[in-house]
Amino acid sequence: MPRIVQKDGRYALLVDGAPYLILGAQVNNSSAWPAMLPKVWPAIEYLHANTIEMPVYWEQFEPEQGRFDYSLVDTLLSQTRAHHLHLVLLWFGTWKNGSSHYRPEWMKRAPELYPLMTGANGRPLDSPSPYSAEALQADIRAFTALMRHLKAIDAEHTVLMVQVENEPGTWGSVRDYSPAAQKLFESPVPHELLTALHKETLAEGTWQAVFGDDAEEFFHAWSVARYIEQVAAAGKAAYPLPLYVNAALRNPLVPSRPPSYESGGPTDNVIPIWKAAAPSIDLVAPDIYMNENAQYLKVLDLYHRSDNALLVPETGQDPTYAPYFFAALGHQAIGFSPFGLDYTKYANAPLGATSITEESLAPFALNYKLVGPMDREIARLNFEGKLQAVVEKKGEPRQSMEFGPWAVTVSYGLGQFGSGDPRGNPEPTGRALVAQLGENQFLVAGFFCRVDFRVSDAASGKQRQFVRVEEGTYDAGKFRPIRIWNGDQTDWGLNFASAPQVVRVSVGMY
Ligand code: DGJ
Repeated sequence: MPRIVQKDGRYALLVDGAPYLILGAQVNNSSAWPAMLPKVWPAIEYLHANTIEMPVYWEQFEPEQGRFDYSLVDTLLSQTRAHHLHLVLLWFGTWKNGSSHYRPEWMKRAPELYPLMTGANGRPLDSPSPYSAEALQADIRAFTALMRHLKAIDAEHTVLMVQVENEPGTWGSVRDYSPAAQKLFESPVPHELLTALHKETLAEGTWQAVFGDDAEEFFHAWSVARYIEQVAAAGKAAYPLPLYVNAALRNPLVPSRPPSYESGGPTDNVIPIWKAAAPSIDLVAPDIYMNENAQYLKVLDLYHRSDNALLVPETGQDPTYAPYFFAALGHQAIGFSPFGLDYTKYANAPLGATSITEESLAPFALNYKLVGPMDREIARLNFEGKLQAVVEKKGEPRQSMEFGPWAVTVSYGLGQFGSGDPRGNPEPTGRALVAQLGENQFLVAGFFCRVDFRVSDAASGKQRQFVRVEEGTYDAGKFRPIRIWNGDQTDWGLNFASAPQVVRVSVGMY
């Protein structure tokens, strides 16, 4: 079984017993239909992705109550196999982007059984109530049917993980104000949450008494997470694949409160509540649609926790997001997956922007062309804590990494022969990764940058020497050198431009 493992606070997704790196792409919301798939695969092939993320739509899956239609799931699996890829399925169930638009028609027509939430003004909200026992039972039955079916048809483990719901929570209201919700809100905070948050001394408090200004938001997060826990636990009992929940984020750098962001999902401030409420969820994952460097890196920091494996299940499709693949690697991510990468010509961008083309995919494809042949090695090195990676930031043309006695410098926009100070690339497209293979041996790769090694201990008076620099390719887990770099290729440092190149470097001191 694919599974998430942890060692010394680092995580790996094990597939066939070894760490796996998701070089992913998610299709547009309405692209997982057989008629659309011919427009999906060419984009995924061009990208060199190894994993595709595709939705399963509840309205398609259970067209009549209790009758499940597995045909679409079967198509997704067989076509994914035909393309020699892995699959992450996204269960568009009770929640999709805070609403419930993927519920089957028979549910939409019975709002008394499957109610929406009530806003503070007493009007219904376009968001499902997390307190409906009927809705919960219906979702449990459907999700369990899905997982049971996967168990029956997927002995070869094409499906690696399942996302339970999609960006659950509520836009436009911090919580439900229905009478049932109000009653719960005025009740004591469940003891297990107090224990998990080390607040046992406040055992008898209401949400307001225990959490003050955060009470409503924490209450809603707990309510949504408890519902999803029950769906996840039932599905996992049928077939124990890794499960995760994705989050619509809040600005990680500017203090704010709902409703300026979606309330109830695993935003960074409520991760501990989600961990306590939903132990069947292996990880919570950020959908990162912020291409400002400081924000992006902060989000990676916030979700890369000792109790949470980092996965970027969605990120922007704009080429400016491509370098962040390296930032994710530098934060030990188990996967990275830009959103909406197919040729259905839907552009998830302002009017007038062009849709996905080879040109817009190219910067993402570059990442996967480079890392694809060595994805297992990169995943293993990262799991062992031996890999570091950086991404260029505007106005910061030089960055460094520390590997014990070696300091590695990454420069962007240097002049020919290394003269002068680096100016940075015209746009911050530079990125580099360095992994330690032995005491003085490293794997180095990147784009639009120059990488060099320096002796950390300046007082030693020692200089670095490139003993051997080999460019190579990975083949079945083995590094196969194709040439030795020397002369102009090493005299000024190791230059990486737009070609996917990886070098194995042995350094010494003189
Ligand atoms: C995040 C959601 O999770 C996706 O399904 C999609 O709606 C994007 N936002 C926006 O295109």
